[in-house]
Amino acid sequence: MFAVGHCTLEAQLVDITTLEVDAIVNAANKSLLGGGGVDGAIHRAAGRDLKRECETLGGCETGDAKITGGHHLPVKHVIHAVGPRWSGGKRNEPALLASCYRRSLELAGEARCKSIAFPAISCGIYRFPIEDAVRIAVATVIGALSNEPSIERVIFACFQQSMLDLYIRQLEEDIQAPPSKPA
Ligand code: AR6
Repeated sequence: MFAVGHCTLEAQLVDITTLEVDAIVNAANKSLLGGGGVDGAIHRAAGRDLKRECETLGGCETGDAKITGGHHLPVKHVIHAVGPRWSGGKRNEPALLASCYRRSLELAGEARCKSIAFPAISCGIYRFPIEDAVRIAVATVIGALSNEPSIERVIFACFQQSMLDLYIRQLEEDIQAPPSKPA
């Protein structure tokens, strides 16, 4: 566990749909009507009413996010962020990915969330280079936290051990690890 100001950050090997936090972030597409990967898992676990609520939102631009209720999930909110599909790096993909994290934290702050969990947005079907995506995710969250005083806990939910290892390494690199307790 790592501390940044008033907030703790951690990476966990976990199915994000099982987390009991105020908000989970979905790696959605512009339609917001569901898909594969974590999006499919979230819609399956939340039930049909999530799709009905998403149908009222009018989609979402890449780099932006929209918020809904959690329905059957053990969370108050789902924040649907639309990450960029990787197409070589010349279409502003890094800035769009950073924007997803910033917008998600803004929406979580407006909804007075204390805890939020992110999947590795764009790292699956959208094929963003994983090490770059992890660096962007961690740096952007650390940079944005001072604007969101309500948020006390951020979890990076990883679906593979290799992804977890990358997040932990990045957190260690970007945040001074707390001194270990004396024996
Ligand atoms: N919990 C946590 N992480 C997960 C889970 C889960 N249950 N399931 C998958 N992941 P992806 P993208 C990880 O493909 O690349 C959808 O069709 C996965 O291993 O879900 O942003 C949307 O509708 C990977 O590390 O999202 C869009 O069309 C990460 O979540 C498109 O895919 C993201 O992988 C979005 O693609």
